[in-house]
Amino acid sequence: MNTVLSTSGNIPLDPSAAFGADASGAHVAASRDTRASGVKLAVHNLTMRYGNGHTALRDFNLSVRAGEMVVVLGSNGSGKSTFMKCVVGLNQPTAGSVEVAGCDLAALSGNALRQARLPLALISQSANLVKRRSVLANVCCGALGRHRTLATALGRLPRAEIETSRACLDEVGLLHLAAQRAGTLSGGQAQRVAIARALVQRPHVLLADEPVASLDPEAADEVMRLLRRLATEDGLAVVCVLHQPELAARYADRLVGLRNGQMEFDQQAPEVSSAQISRLYVDGAS
Ligand SMILES: Nc1ncnc2c1ncn2[C@@H]1O[C@H](COP(=O)(O)OP(=O)(O)OP(=O)(O)O)[C@@H](O)[C@H]1O
Ligand SMILES: [Mg+2]
Repeated sequence: MNTVLSTSGNIPLDPSAAFGADASGAHVAASRDTRASGVKLAVHNLTMRYGNGHTALRDFNLSVRAGEMVVVLGSNGSGKSTFMKCVVGLNQPTAGSVEVAGCDLAALSGNALRQARLPLALISQSANLVKRRSVLANVCCGALGRHRTLATALGRLPRAEIETSRACLDEVGLLHLAAQRAGTLSGGQAQRVAIARALVQRPHVLLADEPVASLDPEAADEVMRLLRRLATEDGLAVVCVLHQPELAARYADRLVGLRNGQMEFDQQAPEVSSAQISRLYVDGAS
């Protein structure tokens, strides 16, 4: 018997935890070009028009390589979260395509699509932890995407997954808090636990939508350092939405500016001028 009760009870999954694990076998319709160049995420002419007629994203193109960290900047309503949601499948784009690890999602459906999305992990402003459960139990939730058995429905995971979860908790520097109730964590600790939960998914692409929005400057810096390290040392393709241009300039390889749903720039971070950034926030609200 290789199961251990670690996350007993019905743990509500964070929507982001539905994406994770190994995409082996999912590379149907793989694009040789993107795989050969190390591109982990590529979106082509992505357009999102909501049901009310509002076009929140228009002809958006972006590609992110393994080991690269891209920060997306833009005013409120410029389409940043819309973009993230289109990538992970929470939005159905009106047009355009999304390639993950060389696999064109538009060509897939059903289980193949679910498999192809496994290398994507999304974290957001709120860590969305189950407060009354332990830190480790929360991190273990990241593994549930690759265990769809009755045992996992009842909250049991293989011992190896629990070891993986402990290793991920260690990676974010919080293994010593494994047994602590998640509701007692500080905002910065909670966000690092959310990152550990995402890492358990073994993502190739880590999407972070305003991960430091509710953190003090020191905690924000710590989370950004962690994301940077995950790109540089672990080779993740990291895409991060921020409202702090100075943090973006400090940590990103590339900066992408969005304004009214359209790309204003996509350049190496040191090449982006303060005037370009300021323009994003002048009359930028949609
Ligand atoms: N489900 C929806 N239906 C209709 N319009 C929507 C929907 N979701 C978002 N929008 C609109 O799309 C635009 C972009 O929203 P989005 O959430 O992507 O912005 P954002 O750049 O993430 O903003 P913020 O910085 O405030 O998070 C906004 O005008 C918003 O009102
Ligand atoms: Mg948003």
